[in-house]
Amino acid sequence: MDWILKRLELIKSENLYRERVVSDNLINLCSNDYLGLRRNKEVIKACIDVCFQLGVGSGASQLVSGYTSWHKKLEDKLKEFKGTEGCVLFGSGYLANTGTIPVLAEEGDLILSDELNHASIIDGCKLSKAEVQIFRHKDYEDLYSRLKKLRHRFRKVLIVTDSVFSMEGDVADISALRSICEEFDCMLYIDDAHATGVLGNGKGSLQEFGVEWKENIIVMGTLSKAVGSYGAFICGSSALVEYIINRVRSLIFSTSLPPPLCASAIKALEIIEKDVTLIEELKRRTEETYVFLKEKGVNVLWNGTPILPIIIGSEEKALVISEKLLSEGILLRAIRYPAVPKGKARLRLTVSLLYGREEWFKYLDVFVNTLKKLS
Ligand SMILES: Cc1ncc(COP(=O)(O)O)c(C=O)c1O
Repeated sequence: MDWILKRLELIKSENLYRERVVSDNLINLCSNDYLGLRRNKEVIKACIDVCFQLGVGSGASQLVSGYTSWHKKLEDKLKEFKGTEGCVLFGSGYLANTGTIPVLAEEGDLILSDELNHASIIDGCKLSKAEVQIFRHKDYEDLYSRLKKLRHRFRKVLIVTDSVFSMEGDVADISALRSICEEFDCMLYIDDAHATGVLGNGKGSLQEFGVEWKENIIVMGTLSKAVGSYGAFICGSSALVEYIINRVRSLIFSTSLPPPLCASAIKALEIIEKDVTLIEELKRRTEETYVFLKEKGVNVLWNGTPILPIIIGSEEKALVISEKLLSEGILLRAIRYPAVPKGKARLRLTVSLLYGREEWFKYLDVFVNTLKKLS
């Protein structure tokens, strides 16, 4: 088994070696829990109550005995939230994307995927027997010209995009994509992982762009980010949901979400709907954070979401910074290939309401001072 050690050496020599860090007591500047809901008392209570009612795990796949009234309630809540006809839950976003994309686009079909889509989309495309073409990031002229050339050769076409790109924090133009899908009779698959609870008053990208849902639009989202829980969902037509339940292997052959997590997700969605000030506060905090960092000379990007990348470039340099921050008690990991292209390593700072305002800026000060010491 020496080959494993050799491979590890190679990974290390490229500065791409990864280690997990026990994060419990660290200042977390890279969590996707944008609204801080995972520590919300009501969300925690909803989880505990169902733990005592039904236990912790679900015990089986949705199709065996792992589908409870809490799964049903959460699906009902999500379809109302997203404005679609149906919804089906998944164990995680990775399972949703890798499982669903291959059954939507099959042999004889075409997938057009944005070049910066999440790894789970890339893997979903790899698992599909359809032809896959990658269009330039948010370049809808490139997408358009490919469709003009190719559309007639394929039965079905699936256009796939993140709505908020997880490593850049920029936003796909959902209106433009919707028009292209109409013109060329395509399906549109939107990964709303980082838009749910953030854009469109928390409802996601369709609501942000004022695009009305139609049955050729498939919205995938996660419960693990702004919703503060775990798991994922696909919202679309009732027929699509029936089809997914019957065909998607990552749903059929995988244990369903623990019911207590469904209950916390429902509570979190209710809070997002009821307390509009939460999203306002996130926007304000993001803008203040950007201004604060810019004024201190940090080369930070802001593309309209709480994801604020600080591009470093060299993998080695990004690692050194991240290690130094860790020694100061700050968790801000170096994001490197394959999460981003080689030579585009970065620190991916995410704004979160997990900390109070004063505390947040105190931590940012420590972050900036550490950066300064290094430079
Ligand atoms: C855009 C996007 N899609 C899908 C996923 C996968 O979701 P999950 O963490 O629930 O597997 C993530 C994050 O992990 C993501 O950023």
